[in-house]
Amino acid sequence: MSFLAALRALAQGLDGRVQNGQNPRQMMIARTLQELHAAREALGPVGFVPTMGALHAGHLTLVATAKAAGRPVAASIFVNPTQFGPKEDFARYPRDEKGDLEKLEAAGCALVWLPGVDAMYPPNSATTITIGGPALQWEGASRPGHFSGVATVVAKLFGQIRPEAAYFGEKDWQQVQVVSRMVEDLALPVRVVPVPIVREADGLALSSRNRYLSEPERKAAPALYAALTHTAQEIAAGKEVAAALHRARQSLAQAGMVPDYVALVHAQTLEPLASFAAPARLIAAAKLGQVRLLDNVPVG
Ligand code: PAF
Repeated sequence: MSFLAALRALAQGLDGRVQNGQNPRQMMIARTLQELHAAREALGPVGFVPTMGALHAGHLTLVATAKAAGRPVAASIFVNPTQFGPKEDFARYPRDEKGDLEKLEAAGCALVWLPGVDAMYPPNSATTITIGGPALQWEGASRPGHFSGVATVVAKLFGQIRPEAAYFGEKDWQQVQVVSRMVEDLALPVRVVPVPIVREADGLALSSRNRYLSEPERKAAPALYAALTHTAQEIAAGKEVAAALHRARQSLAQAGMVPDYVALVHAQTLEPLASFAAPARLIAAAKLGQVRLLDNVPVG
């Protein structure tokens, strides 16, 4: 259905449902800021799920969680160039607009915002958000500029969508803390809602990049979650933290991964903890073949 037809139907009070029995839902797809503004007028308060597409069950859980709060859900799909480093996988990041739109419609999304690069980064734009604190270490250190790119695009999306609440997956634990910091520091009128990680049956955290794992790599990948859960138990049981983290890195290497970091950190500030003190999170990143895996678990 075209954007205008969906908007018209919504304005006529069909409330997201077509009454001819052909199409149980109507989802507006906005590709320009003008379309987005018209759709936002029509919808009232919304919950918001920002994504870079290549959607999996983790994203759909974000939509379901947002929907359960009782407001219409707006999602965005934008592969944000500014959060990729020059040697990272921006060009080959998976893109599947048609499949993504079908999934979002089936999940009951009311609006999808599909901006082009020009809408997000007009040639005269001159503002970038830089975040210290929770953005400085771990992903921030390994991927310089990454969190500045994330914060800038998320702030723009918040300004465009003006959601009441925004839903982020805990797989990117550090990202959730960085966005929460930004929202508090800039007094942005949005509630950040973290949503627990969705995992495969063998423990691997769902990620759009998992599709790049070869068959042997896919078999090895759950070793990351296994190492984290084992190490979290050791630390909670009082084992020395540095030694437990060292053993975790060794077990990742044995599984064929190149660990970047395995760290016990304060759950919100992301400062490293030398000994266990709540609230703590065990976070890790490791390269398996060409794929960078991220995961984290609570401790204690
Ligand atoms: O988590 C992601 O998919 C991205 O970092 C986000 C939040 C959509 C910003 O581009």
